[in-house]
Amino acid sequence: MKNEREQWQSRVGFLLATIGSAIGLGNIWRFAYMAYENGGGAFLVPYVIALVTAGIPLMILELGIGHKKVASAPLAYAKIIKRWEWLGWWAVTFIMFGIALYYSVIISWCLNYLFFSVNKAWGTGVEEFFFKSFLGITSGPWDIGGIRSTILIGLAFIWFVSWFIVYRGIGKGIEFANKVFMPLLFILILVLVVWSITLEGAKDGIIAYLKPNFSVLKHPRVWIDAYSQVFFSLSLGFGILIAYASYLPEENNITGNAVIVSVADSLFAILAGFAVFSILGYMAFQTGGSIDSVISEGIGLAFVAYPQAINLLPAFGNVFGAIFFLALVLAGLTSLVSIIEAFVAAVIDKFDFKRGRVVTVVSLLGFMGAIIFTTGGGLFWLDIVDHFLSHYGLVVVGILECILVGWLFHIELIRDHVNRISEFKVGLWWNLMIKFFIPFVLTTMLLWDLTNELKKPYGGYGWDAIFAIGVCWLLVTLIIAFVFTWFPWRKDVFYRNTIRNN
Ligand code: ALA
Repeated sequence: MKNEREQWQSRVGFLLATIGSAIGLGNIWRFAYMAYENGGGAFLVPYVIALVTAGIPLMILELGIGHKKVASAPLAYAKIIKRWEWLGWWAVTFIMFGIALYYSVIISWCLNYLFFSVNKAWGTGVEEFFFKSFLGITSGPWDIGGIRSTILIGLAFIWFVSWFIVYRGIGKGIEFANKVFMPLLFILILVLVVWSITLEGAKDGIIAYLKPNFSVLKHPRVWIDAYSQVFFSLSLGFGILIAYASYLPEENNITGNAVIVSVADSLFAILAGFAVFSILGYMAFQTGGSIDSVISEGIGLAFVAYPQAINLLPAFGNVFGAIFFLALVLAGLTSLVSIIEAFVAAVIDKFDFKRGRVVTVVSLLGFMGAIIFTTGGGLFWLDIVDHFLSHYGLVVVGILECILVGWLFHIELIRDHVNRISEFKVGLWWNLMIKFFIPFVLTTMLLWDLTNELKKPYGGYGWDAIFAIGVCWLLVTLIIAFVFTWFPWRKDVFYRNTIRNN
């Protein structure tokens, strides 16, 4: 049969690529921001609980499905129950033509800031520089403003690099890139952590970060943030893990892999938090303010607080800045590549097109689609789209995935498959998590978000923007998913690679 499925060249290669997908901007920028917003160290409690009760079990499920069905998300779901193919398409479509679009723009910001670091081009009015001079921020989402040329140039570069990596395929492209980028990223973060914890005042920052303020744990919001952070960070509900697992050889330690990836992802996030909070401590010390007062704007943590701190460093601030922004670029790129691959794999699985052509068309469309986020109104669009896709898209996919496998299919088949090949066997607890606990938690999150949503529009935007940008983004990608599903399968393509399809 034509088309031998590509495979990872080594287990380490697969692990690095999957950790590369998981570790992204989320770990450096979002985790620290979430922790900061939700009581610093206390946030670790719901985070670890979310990891153990939902993150790892769901990762085992997604890796198990991809490995057993030897298929990307739409084909894997179609092989489970034909009518559910749309769910896989929806996931890979809204991540590719939603998350990847704004994600690539943020990586472009980081790339720009990497260059700005050289001569601290942001000057002393860091906040003003970021929002006004760099983003050219407008009055709201409908005031689009112009395309910011430096962001656009960075964006083109990011899409070119991603295109190149995914074009070269699994072993020579994605695996190779991760084998280079991930060790480099770990080194960069270690340098940053060691450097920043030795700064004066760092201790206070770390105390603020680690000292648990348990009183915040009674707020459901904190728990919801923890579960959604785990979800986003582990790339769950994206369809990425399903595709990546489909390139694994027959024998593989699925549960071991899930634990290694989850733990590596979390440790990295916690470690990166040290660099972030040490710098906040240093800044507070230098300016004589409290830690809370040195940061005003969440989204500006990387682009306002960090440059401010870099300005204060007595020596080599530019090197420090370059390391930080390079780390962000690398972390972002390895995640972006995985998002593109999840979609590309789905198209190749269904239509049997050549990888090169698919990657080229998808990358061009991705680049063009991302342009809206490079405009003066781009930050508002980014905020709204991110809110809807990560709070609703991913969560709905997670719930339906659990229902599909836990209730409509024989969950035992997946568990038996995973246990047959894995070192650690998962017990009945895993069925219970997939069937009851995870859908319960995710549904609670969904209802909570929905209730808040209806009370007042998210982020203080108008209802028109919420509907036209956020809700429509979900609906349009859903329609596209049904269009993909509507195309008939070629029998030989559907039943190819069925060795493990028992
Ligand atoms: N998992 C990726 C991140 O955390 C998407 O940024």
